[in-house]
Amino acid sequence: MMQPRSTPFNLIVILLAGILLVWAGWPHYSRSANAANDIRIIAHRGASGSAPENTLAAFDLAVERQADYVELDVQLSLDGELIVIHDRTLERTTNGVGYVGSKTAQQLRTLDAGSSFSAAFAGERIPLLEQVLDRYLGRVGLLVELKEPALYPKMEEKLAAVIKERLTTLSESNMDPLIIQSFDRNAVRHMHELLPGIATGVLIRPEQKRMQAEDWAAVARYADYINPHKSLVDKSFVEAAHAHGLLVMPWTVHRSGEARRLIRAGVDGLITDYP
Ligand code: G3P
Ligand code: CA
Repeated sequence: MMQPRSTPFNLIVILLAGILLVWAGWPHYSRSANAANDIRIIAHRGASGSAPENTLAAFDLAVERQADYVELDVQLSLDGELIVIHDRTLERTTNGVGYVGSKTAQQLRTLDAGSSFSAAFAGERIPLLEQVLDRYLGRVGLLVELKEPALYPKMEEKLAAVIKERLTTLSESNMDPLIIQSFDRNAVRHMHELLPGIATGVLIRPEQKRMQAEDWAAVARYADYINPHKSLVDKSFVEAAHAHGLLVMPWTVHRSGEARRLIRAGVDGLITDYP
């Protein structure tokens, strides 16, 4: 049997097909690809697939990649400062040990929050929330998650105070420049009471019970967003949310196939480690 000849044309076709296959499977969502559908891209803990989560390095990279929002997590230090870190303990992401809430902000600021991701990021610090607000408000949307507010007395009041100091920086735009979200619905309701002009969101874990009619109505009274685990989202979920005036931004989306399914379901944004 005759073997097919390798012509320059064949080689170019094979090369282009290879590039397309790699691109299609790569966990990367370009803003231009989503602009037509008005899907917001939210960098989960910053561009945390490529830089240490919840650090300025990850937030800067998200801005560079033109994410619409940076998502970040907030806990409280011993001396009552709002600290940007996901876990209530230090071991997973820093070279410290113990609880975030057992250290002062100054102690936390001496820790290395980059080396556990890669030696290339050695020396990255745990940011203070105020530092993040001052550096990014007006440059990129911020989706601030209150982590375990029930652990921290007056956490919502402290957050409201630092936001109030910066209200004039919150420019008018077609997107909310700042959204406060939490799994703790009491904290979200409280934030809405303290700062009714600031957008709020309710997070839902995969294991939580399905939203009932009365839940939708209750959440819609104090929240603007409902941000569920991606496994909870289908067309009927999004339709129910939209019927109650809530936008939907599921987490955490890694693959293009997942993104396509969620976009077809009608979501308003995608929270991803790979903006
Ligand atoms: O923004 C959604 C997502 O951040 C919630 O889960 O554990 O990554 O904070 P987690
Ligand atoms: Ca989070």
